[in-house]
Amino acid sequence: MGETTRMYLYFEATAALYTVTVIAVLLCIAGILTTLALWRQGKARSLHRTLNSAAVARSFITDVVFQAQILKISFVRWLMHFCIFIGFMGLLAQTSLMAFISHFSAPESFLAQSFFHGGGSRVLDVWGDVFGLTMLFGLAIAIIRRYVVRTRQLETIAKDTTSLVLLTAIGLSGFICEAFRLMDPQYADVAWYSFAGMTLSQLLQAAGIGAASYTAWVWSHAVISFIFIAFIPFSKAWHIFVSPIEIVLDASERA
Ligand code: HEM
Repeated sequence: MGETTRMYLYFEATAALYTVTVIAVLLCIAGILTTLALWRQGKARSLHRTLNSAAVARSFITDVVFQAQILKISFVRWLMHFCIFIGFMGLLAQTSLMAFISHFSAPESFLAQSFFHGGGSRVLDVWGDVFGLTMLFGLAIAIIRRYVVRTRQLETIAKDTTSLVLLTAIGLSGFICEAFRLMDPQYADVAWYSFAGMTLSQLLQAAGIGAASYTAWVWSHAVISFIFIAFIPFSKAWHIFVSPIEIVLDASERA
């Protein structure tokens, strides 16, 4: 298979897709460097004691991975945050695995044989749907808390809305892509492994909406994702990087 026709399981990674990916990642890195340069202008020392590795490791597990600090405040808030976090990380892991196999392992390698054929592909189908649904569930709680129930402690600024809208649009458009792909009879035997995409596919068909261009939907989905990625350093999503660092350093200082 030529470089431009390598498969990401269902979608062809073309030169155009690579170009846009590189631009989005470079914009994200430029944003990170700009923010770091601004921070370095600060005069105060950030650490007053030597780093306590045990405290760093402990707080990484309890407060970064399991987010116990949020659980102490509110279960609903923890559930919301944990679902978005785990859903996003699960999807990131799935995409990274597929990209790795696609680019760094030979078609006859164990990884490619395991995940791009038969049972392994079905694991990826279920994986995408489980983590995609988890992320959307967390986003639904976030939207209800901010805009429907309007929890008192929350003050909503444009940044919050932009991140929530972009992530929700990414999740929903991802499932729409999948639903349209699954209308193709070639997937009939395995379609129900993508249980959420298939349910949506059947609902769309019942509403009289037939197969639309899969490629066009994937492109829309990818472009929204790239906008989200390029804006990470300037958006609410920046705390994905900053909070873990702050939390573990703070734990080390207190230990
Ligand atoms: C912020 C980054 C992204 C997130 C959170 C995200 C999320 C999702 C979700 C939730 C789905 C539906 C569930 C599933 O995969 O089974 C999906 C599907 C899909 N995504 Fe993404 N996505 C992201 C970026 C991208 C990018 C950059 C591409 C590049 C083309 C892409 C390509 C696809 C494709 C092709 C599908 C449909 C898979 C199928 O037909 O089964 N995604 N995505």
